[in-house]
Amino acid sequence: MRVIEGFFCIPNPILSITYRRAIQARKRVAEALSLVVRERRMERERGITKNDMLAALFESDGDGSGIGFSDDEIVDFLVSLLVAGYDTTSTTITLAVKFLTDTPLALAQLKQEHDEIWAKKTASVSLEWEDYKSMPFTQCVINETLRVSNIISGVFRRTMTDVDIKGYTIPKGSKVFTSLRAVHLDQENFKDARVFNPWRWQKPLDSSNFMPFGGGPRRCPGHELARVALSVFLHHLVTRFSWEPAEEDKLVFFPTTRTQKRYPIIVQRRSCVKTR
Ligand code: HEM
Ligand SMILES: *[C@@H]1O[C@H](CO)[C@@H](O)[C@H](O)[C@H]1NC(C)=O
Repeated sequence: MRVIEGFFCIPNPILSITYRRAIQARKRVAEALSLVVRERRMERERGITKNDMLAALFESDGDGSGIGFSDDEIVDFLVSLLVAGYDTTSTTITLAVKFLTDTPLALAQLKQEHDEIWAKKTASVSLEWEDYKSMPFTQCVINETLRVSNIISGVFRRTMTDVDIKGYTIPKGSKVFTSLRAVHLDQENFKDARVFNPWRWQKPLDSSNFMPFGGGPRRCPGHELARVALSVFLHHLVTRFSWEPAEEDKLVFFPTTRTQKRYPIIVQRRSCVKTR
């Protein structure tokens, strides 16, 4: 959290306490990860191999020099993935839960979709790819959550050539901030754009007006993983629990979209369903 807050401040350690804190927090995370990386490298030298991302990084010949990544490079890579993948997904999950709680009809329909999937499974079988592919309403809920809350409000780009757009010329070499939020919340693209309405995704929408994961070669490489994580989480949440908000909470939009108090809820096991 503190690392991420540091992205939205004046990057000067004397002027900004947020910046100082972010740098310190990053250092602590990096130290913890260094320990893991060092330990794993030693294990590897003793011939213990695992089949995971860290193993792939050890084996990779990063820049083709034949040397492979150093521990520092691997740690940097891990920090980036944690920053890019963890907070984004968990915040989006929280927002989805809030939108669903505030929209009981949507929650009821989501429950029904997952109860049906669940009813077909025996206790020992977990969710499979096919189940994931048969959650159409869930995908509407996820798209609508990404659209309305759009935790990454936009992306930076630099123009490689002069770009003419709507009567303006952006000169070559300019840095531009392309606002995704402005597109997602534009009334011309989405009717009642500020309202959470998952049903709008039931008919085909112009996909060029929707890019919660950015676009082009730098598009978020975790986009499918994030959708799977959200779907699986929602499946387990709605089939096993009911909940109510523990306190009033609201959305804040700066520096990133999130719930002010992280939206605490009080959960209760659902009694009407078979126990696992
Ligand atoms: C709801 C969840 C997520 C959202 C909304 C999201 C959104 C984004 C956006 C908007 C970008 C910038 C893309 C661009 O410049 O065009 C990005 C980049 C990135 N994301 Fe995600 N992301 C999510 C989850 C994840 C996950 C789960 C991972 C990995 C485990 C991940 C890894 C990355 C990485 C490594 C980049 C940088 C790509 C590059 O610059 O080439 N993200 N993400
Ligand atoms: C959700 O958005 C993606 C584009 O990011 C699109 O491919 C997909 O069809 C949408 N899902 C639904 C249910 O409309």
